[in-house]
Amino acid sequence: MKRVADIPPKNLKGLRVLVRSEFNVPMGDTLVRNDFRIRKAIKTIAYLRDHGAQVIICAHVGRDPKDSLAPISRSMKPLLPHVFIKDIVGREAHMAADAMKGGDVILLENVRQHPGETANDPAFAQELAKFGDLYVNDAFSVSHREHASIVGVPRYIPGYAGLLFADEFDNLSDALNPTSPSLVIVGGAKFETKEPLIKKLLDIYDAVFIGGAIANDLLRARGFPVGRSVISKGVPGADVMSHPHLIIPSDVTVENEQHQARVKKAADVTSGDKIVDIGPDSFAEVARVIRTAKFVLWNGPTGLYEDGYDEWTEAVAQAIAGSSAHTVVGGGDTIATIDALGIEEKFTFLSTAGGALLEFLTNGTLPGIKML
Ligand code: 3PG
Repeated sequence: MKRVADIPPKNLKGLRVLVRSEFNVPMGDTLVRNDFRIRKAIKTIAYLRDHGAQVIICAHVGRDPKDSLAPISRSMKPLLPHVFIKDIVGREAHMAADAMKGGDVILLENVRQHPGETANDPAFAQELAKFGDLYVNDAFSVSHREHASIVGVPRYIPGYAGLLFADEFDNLSDALNPTSPSLVIVGGAKFETKEPLIKKLLDIYDAVFIGGAIANDLLRARGFPVGRSVISKGVPGADVMSHPHLIIPSDVTVENEQHQARVKKAADVTSGDKIVDIGPDSFAEVARVIRTAKFVLWNGPTGLYEDGYDEWTEAVAQAIAGSSAHTVVGGGDTIATIDALGIEEKFTFLSTAGGALLEFLTNGTLPGIKML
């Protein structure tokens, strides 16, 4: 993989660099709710700017093609002076790019407003490539998408991994070779999409704790009642269920039909119950493993975080923060928990990636990496 850090800095002066950044952040009506990804994106842009390059930033936000990067630009202004252009590959964007001097930064409008982006249209990729002498992909977290700004542009101009991209690659590669004793905690939903990854992690990690809605599938496969809980289409195979490294919750927090929450042993869940989080015994077991682990990887909340069941996700965050292990964490809700607790500094590496992290760990690469 070619890295922008390997280019002698003096060679960057005067170059036009098209940077693909990750600004897909949680939004309120018009305000950025969490600026973690924006803060992380600054390093590469500032590095290029400080070495005299002209930086043209291309990024997306949301899944509605009408979504705009204007609120992200407002949020980024105090961190990095730049000009926001309400255009992608049209006249306005090219005029702005042509007027740039060394050290200037412009941000183009949401690249997904153009249908060529998600269609990976070569003509659109070529249009984007016209902005740069070089292309820098700093959006590791989007690099599982075969979109024009990820895999198309580096077909036309030389492509390099940005500083954040390289950090993600290095730290997540470490997570594929963890120091023993190692622990991975996986939460979230959709067991069927995570099954290949869970199988792989069971072989790599000494302990694999499963929480979140995917734990419901494992509890059910073990013969426990799961009542009204969220379950997936997939049924875990015997290779997963009988694996000696697998740990599933021994107790759970349930919500009854009157929306009252209480803690139960996994075997005591009734047909009216909905599992909404792990319980204190399960947490105690994870905390015990965290205390002796040398490497901890964590992705996904332990419960229905978005419904307010955040108690044990927060407890897990604090337990990992307090450990002396090498700690790598990713996923939107997981990072949001850490952010809300103000304990970001206590982790070795916080990844900006969600879906891309899962895909990288599963396959060891991503379409965007292959292009660099
Ligand atoms: C993410 O938020 O994980 C990336 O920006 C990819 O977004 P997408 O799932 O909308 O492609």
